[in-house]
Amino acid sequence: MTVATAPVAPPEAARQAGDEILFQPIKLGRYNLRHRIVMAPLTRSRARQPGNVPTALNACYYAQRASAALIISEATQVSMQGQGYAWTPGIHSREQIEGWRLVTQAVHDAGGLIFLQLWHVGRISHPLLQPDNMLPVAPSAIKPSGEAFVTDENGEPAMVPFETPRALQIEEMPYLVRQYTRGARNAMSAGFDGVEVHGANGYLLDQFLESGTNRRSDAYGGTVENRARLLLEVVETVRDVWGSDRVGVRLSPLSTFNEMSDDNPEETFGYVAGRLSEYRLAYLHLVNPAIAAMEKGTAPEPRAIRMIDLIREKYRGVLMLAGGFDHDTAEAWVRQGKADLIAFGRKFLANPDLPERLRRRDPLNADDPSTYYGGGAKGYIDYPTLKGEQPAPCVDERWR
Ligand SMILES: Cc1cc2nc3c(=O)[nH]c(=O)nc-3n(C[C@H](O)[C@H](O)[C@H](O)COP(=O)(O)O)c2cc1C
Repeated sequence: MTVATAPVAPPEAARQAGDEILFQPIKLGRYNLRHRIVMAPLTRSRARQPGNVPTALNACYYAQRASAALIISEATQVSMQGQGYAWTPGIHSREQIEGWRLVTQAVHDAGGLIFLQLWHVGRISHPLLQPDNMLPVAPSAIKPSGEAFVTDENGEPAMVPFETPRALQIEEMPYLVRQYTRGARNAMSAGFDGVEVHGANGYLLDQFLESGTNRRSDAYGGTVENRARLLLEVVETVRDVWGSDRVGVRLSPLSTFNEMSDDNPEETFGYVAGRLSEYRLAYLHLVNPAIAAMEKGTAPEPRAIRMIDLIREKYRGVLMLAGGFDHDTAEAWVRQGKADLIAFGRKFLANPDLPERLRRRDPLNADDPSTYYGGGAKGYIDYPTLKGEQPAPCVDERWR
């Protein structure tokens, strides 16, 4: 009789990582993702001036992070009117398409997948950023409090108070939709793998959607069907360009960022989630309504959890959540079925090799908020990988 020997147990961390749902593959539209850790969209305000053109420096930054299951690019304005912050990249000029090609090529060479986030800021802008110094546009003429990030006459960064935006005329709406059509086409020419419609964080599409910023009495205001009209028209035109399996949408229910509010968020976001479900998109992406509690390490607010459950019920497809996650909460939430994918923002910003670090449960670099926006390589491409190594070199004469 032979005595069975016990199999040698793998080290605890490796065994756990092997079992973890975060590291299980998943299908996202037409793509097969290797794991569930996504790089969230992050504005870094480092586009070349003049012209808001992506550069080889930007390509380096994204390529360093190509081990993400999917990279979602920083928010990218679909038109000059859609810009709301200094030095953000666009996707409306030939130079910008060429600049973005450097980025998509570098990410693909590094084995990654990248979607472009299509953006129009609406009222979160300033005449100094608008073509011919015109007023920013919005569903209704309601001024946000706070300040816009602009450049002064010397090209230096400055903060200036927001102004009251101009309410869009109904005749202009088809032209707004076409800004997204062009952006979607340009993103395809630039070599992206798909696009995410930015319907979150108090920008134009969210301003239409939520009742606090939409006082219109025409076909784009009032009922939830009307308030959701622009978002859905944009999703349809973008879907027509890309096919539904390469389009995602980002929403931020219950968020008050950029002074957003809604009289009945459950009705508004429940309706939108149900409508978006019909399009069979690649994914729906939510800014986690429980982010504040998660950051404090306290239990999520019951209303936030109910909102996620409601959207999960109405939206029958891949759901991505971003906001306040660490390794353990990400794993727990995906395991509990609250989400299928987790996007990381600040942790990916500071850790180019984030999936590997999470897999090994290694310590993470801390992010430096002073280098979030503007500047060059510092705080951008110099965050070290595991064991203090500099990330893969991506030196290119063009950005020296
Ligand atoms: C520097 C910075 C820039 C951001 N830029 C964008 C953006 O361009 N588009 C967007 O939808 N969200 C943006 N966000 C929000 C992030 O995508 C994410 O939802 C947020 O950081 C919460 O996730 P985290 O806790 O993992 O950082 C930004 C956040 C930060 C910190």
